[in-house]
Amino acid sequence: MSERLEIHGGQPLDGTVTISGSKNATLPAMAAALALPGGLLLSGVPDLLDVHTMRQLLTSMGTTITAPHNGQLFLQAPDTLNPNAPWELVSRMRASVCVLGPLLSRFRHARVALPGGCNIGHRPIDLHLRGLAALGADISISEGCVSARCSQLIGTTIDLAGPAGPTVTGTCNILIAATLAKGHTVIRNAAREPEVQDLATLLNAAGARISYAGHGTIEIHGVDSLGSATHTVSPDRIEAGTFAVAALLTNGRLTLQHAPTHALTDFLELLQQVGARLTLLPNALIVQRDGPLRPAHAIAQPYPGIPTDLQAQLMALFACTPGESRITDLVFPERFRHAAELIRLGADIHVVGNQARIRGVSRLSGAPLTATDLRASAALVLAGLAASGTTILHRIHHLDRGYQHFDEKLRAVGGQVRRLSESSG
Ligand code: UD1
Repeated sequence: MSERLEIHGGQPLDGTVTISGSKNATLPAMAAALALPGGLLLSGVPDLLDVHTMRQLLTSMGTTITAPHNGQLFLQAPDTLNPNAPWELVSRMRASVCVLGPLLSRFRHARVALPGGCNIGHRPIDLHLRGLAALGADISISEGCVSARCSQLIGTTIDLAGPAGPTVTGTCNILIAATLAKGHTVIRNAAREPEVQDLATLLNAAGARISYAGHGTIEIHGVDSLGSATHTVSPDRIEAGTFAVAALLTNGRLTLQHAPTHALTDFLELLQQVGARLTLLPNALIVQRDGPLRPAHAIAQPYPGIPTDLQAQLMALFACTPGESRITDLVFPERFRHAAELIRLGADIHVVGNQARIRGVSRLSGAPLTATDLRASAALVLAGLAASGTTILHRIHHLDRGYQHFDEKLRAVGGQVRRLSESSG
């Protein structure tokens, strides 16, 4: 049943939030299990909707998945399976496309529905397909699906640079495919996101020979088969960044346990410019204001730049920051649907092309809102927490796709947030 959040704003958040395992590291890791005949034991798996969807997809193919302990999954893909990723699941979660590489490398055949566009803009998979074709896959598109087949993948040099920089899940797909290709593969302009490095660590634990040559170049020496692996997913840098913004927006003080600060350097630098006082502890980060907020220009770009997945949250922050701030998104230039919802709370935002100009207002005021996509949903919850009065956020399944128990975590640090079913009054 569909649900909504009721948010009473104006309360500073105060306390400790434990950061969960990374969604974007978990999904390709789960898909990689398809290529590991010996099975994969994953720890630090977050409890969120996209993980359940990936579980459903892999199970529908024939993978056995058990949960030995809280936060753990054991995945075992048999020697023969059904290599189809249907539209019903791919349309719910684009990361389903991550099964393409592992299916092709171990089973020599994959059929995956084309993901199409989505709420954050045009999202083609041409670079994934170009890379797999360069490795020798025979690719065809019919009835809305990509079919990829090969007799043997052969190592080669692949450039994954696209018009908006490298592709993250594309790099994951090529990395897994090249692991079992014959010979040596070089990926140039590979995505440098920590989630890709997480995947490389997992694959190496299973017997792959992947090394980083610097400057976005990855070298892979193909092996005949992979074995098994045990892997712990890294903490979620986007969840940590979201709670850091929450602390600043509500003028509170949050201790973020396990925050992966090394993976957020540009973002944390920006927060300091905006007026954050950051205190680094051995395994935690304390975030609070260091005086009044100051305007800034945030440019979302590939790693190690400010993540596009934190752009909407920054827009909520800038909406309450005196002066004029700007946000430019170089990764998804059309990712501004949340601006219209923030304007309903009283924000002063103008979007032109890939840039938003935001003039801070002294106070947002609560209103009914509709969540448009995953990260936008989080931004709207944060804005609601900073606004006066009550904000109702509808369509929160977007939020549940990517945040583990977001409303519970907020309540634990003083956020006045209630989850209600759409049918209740
Ligand atoms: C991943 C993340 C998502 C994040 C995004 C950018 C996962 C599961 N999702 O998505 O949360 O917002 O990275 O950091 O990890 N592009 C092409 N051709 C392609 C593929 C991509 O032109 O074949 C373009 C896209 O339109 C976009 C840019 O490249 O402009 C980056 O997209 P990409 O890195 O592929 O995003 P995802 O991997 O889908």
